[in-house]
Amino acid sequence: MKMKICVLPGDGIGVEIMAQAEKILGRITEVFGHEIEIDYGLIGGAAIDEKGSPLPTDTIEICRNRDAILLGAVGGPKWDEIDKSIRPEKGLLGIRKEFDLFANLRPAILFPELKDASLLRPDIVDKGIDLLVIRELTSGIYFGEPRGEEIRNGQRVAFNTMIYSEDEIRRVAKVAFEAARKRAYRVCSVDKANVLDVSQLWREVVIDTAKVYPDVQLNHLYVDNAAMQLVRDPSQFDVILTSNLFGDILSDEAAVITGSLGMLPSASMGQKKPDLYEPIHGSAPDIAGRDLANPLATILSVAMMFKYTFSLDKEARAVEEAVQKVLAQNFRTGDIMSPGMIRVGCNEMGELVVREIG
Ligand code: IPM
Ligand code: MG
Repeated sequence: MKMKICVLPGDGIGVEIMAQAEKILGRITEVFGHEIEIDYGLIGGAAIDEKGSPLPTDTIEICRNRDAILLGAVGGPKWDEIDKSIRPEKGLLGIRKEFDLFANLRPAILFPELKDASLLRPDIVDKGIDLLVIRELTSGIYFGEPRGEEIRNGQRVAFNTMIYSEDEIRRVAKVAFEAARKRAYRVCSVDKANVLDVSQLWREVVIDTAKVYPDVQLNHLYVDNAAMQLVRDPSQFDVILTSNLFGDILSDEAAVITGSLGMLPSASMGQKKPDLYEPIHGSAPDIAGRDLANPLATILSVAMMFKYTFSLDKEARAVEEAVQKVLAQNFRTGDIMSPGMIRVGCNEMGELVVREIG
């Protein structure tokens, strides 16, 4: 198969983790006989520095005719004081919106090898964690209008709008029900319907969408309760369906209970290509450029790309199994380190995974 990919390393550790992802791509195409065409683009702070915008138009054009985009991370203290309208994060939000990538899939799986790295009590982790957060990604409070800051009664006020249309809710709910059919047939929709009008509509539309999926069990939790249940007993969840803001928060929580933010991949998709793959963690400026980052979330994002964009299940499994083998051999980056394990850097972790493929 011929694959057309655009790599956007971004800022901070984005550059080093993406270098490892590229090694994996190279190895898989070699072993399985595929052809790959890689282009590169600027995004985030790196793009601000070079082009004056976090999402330059030529980056969008490079991505447009690709099958998939692989993105590292954006942001860092260097751009914290910058004009709000061109913050590095605008690059990420912009690319999601540009390609209408409304469904964000964030699987949180506990590798048995990493049980000791989890923050949860052993009796809780022993029940296992294997859940999939499906986060709406192109609407809600992240994009709602009106938004802004103004003077009212002599003082500054700022506001955002949490808004969803029926269609926006329905299309992401469908993705969740379809995903549940490939898993354990359970969807938990998370909202704040006891307080928010937008959540009441969310719940009504999800219930209505569920009618054509009678084989999938649906329940609802308020977001505060869901956050609590995630640490109390994560094994109760299969697919969690939620809005943009709640999904942002819950997916970090789901990630860290599995051991580290550095382990979790994500896929963002719309109705058509390109799809976008990125680790769920940020640019970690504190450790950037020091070969300390964990590249596994990005490497596992490459596995998701094989599976979802190219339907190459064997290739996806080869990557996932290679990661598992390296963990079973006790190699760990700093973030997942525990006593008795062998500490390696970002680059060596990438090499180790490559060695286990094929
Ligand atoms: C994420 C990140 C982004 C988000 C930031 C960097 C804009 O936290 O992908 O979860 O809030 O969506
Ligand atoms: Mg986040």
